Amino acid sequence: MIDKRKNDHIFLAASPESQIGDSWLDEVVLVHRALPELDLDDVDTRTTFLGREISMPFIIGAMTGGTELAEKINARLAKAAEELGVPMYVGSQRVGIVKPEARRSFEVVKANAPTVPKIANLGAPQISRLPDDQLLRWAEEAVNMIDAAALAVHLNPAQEVFQPEGEPYFKNVLDRLRFLKRSLRVPLIVKEVGNGISKEVAGLLNGVADIIDVAGAGGTSFVVIEGLRAKEARPELYELAQEFKGWGIPTAAAICEAKAAFKGPVIASGGIRNGLDGAKALGLGADYFSASQPLLKAALDDKVAQAISRMLKELRIAMFLTGAAKVQDLRKAPKVFGPRLESWLRQRGVSC
Ligand SMILES: Cc1cc2nc3c(=O)[nH]c(=O)nc-3n(C[C@H](O)[C@H](O)[C@H](O)COP(=O)(O)O)c2cc1C
Repeated sequence: MIDKRKNDHIFLAASPESQIGDSWLDEVVLVHRALPELDLDDVDTRTTFLGREISMPFIIGAMTGGTELAEKINARLAKAAEELGVPMYVGSQRVGIVKPEARRSFEVVKANAPTVPKIANLGAPQISRLPDDQLLRWAEEAVNMIDAAALAVHLNPAQEVFQPEGEPYFKNVLDRLRFLKRSLRVPLIVKEVGNGISKEVAGLLNGVADIIDVAGAGGTSFVVIEGLRAKEARPELYELAQEFKGWGIPTAAAICEAKAAFKGPVIASGGIRNGLDGAKALGLGADYFSASQPLLKAALDDKVAQAISRMLKELRIAMFLTGAAKVQDLRKAPKVFGPRLESWLRQRGVSC
């Protein structure tokens, strides 16, 4: 049952139907600088993540685990992460905790990527009902399974509503996150899964999360994916999901909201499809960017290193053409916003 769900997610996410395609990053123009006053070779994309040097401010997104196919994908993602020196998330590890035979599909990540920072993953609805001792045991098992440098907890209320076997249990999540922050020996990352984090939620996460990942709307939609999974057996759920398929905070707006309210580092994700999107996200103030679906497709074709190298090249070009020698310089690049983003920011009282 859980195996089928994990493989359904992989195949549906890899298909164009799962992509809603409006991150609003096309509403952000980085202004061209005809006098960069540096050579392309001077551009330095290196930065640090969780205290370790990485080759670019990019993180392979949280996706999968639990099945044979997931194991193959995780191994390919991990090999490329290690080769290119970028961090990587894994998908939700509940399956690896409750089903010991599924553990291998996660352990391949530490075997193939021994040195880069790896991020463990659990879901908010699953942790919301766990008492302290069991929660700490789950979190430690998830971290140890991949030798993780941080634990991510994903907030996915929209996905749980439309998932046929969904668990929309979000009471008590903030309290459980506070407990993890107090008890865990690694930093805590709180992320969405494609519907975005608002300034109100980002504000609540101050002092609770060490890092947040906005995972905004505009790329992979789990509302659409769960609706498609429900289509035959539960057509009414499919129809409901169709109505909500555009739900969420577009990624460009979510980055600005999160940066306005959260005091720690912010990861931009959701519909980031190339290094130029990544450069725009950094220009808006994000500290790192992450992508999932493009790397899932690359992993299925066994071309992950090529996909990441291409992102790196695109980021370098965007940095050169804005005169940014270092990643942090992108923040200073002048930007022009399209009308939807400008109006959103004005109405929400957020400057970016
Ligand atoms: C096949 C697949 C499975 C996913 N599973 C998880 C998961 O287990 N945990 C999680 O935090 N996010 C999960 N995500 C969500 C991604 O981390 C990301 O937030 C979302 O896909 C938006 O990014 P994208 O538009 O670049 O794909 C998954 C994404 C994909 C494509």
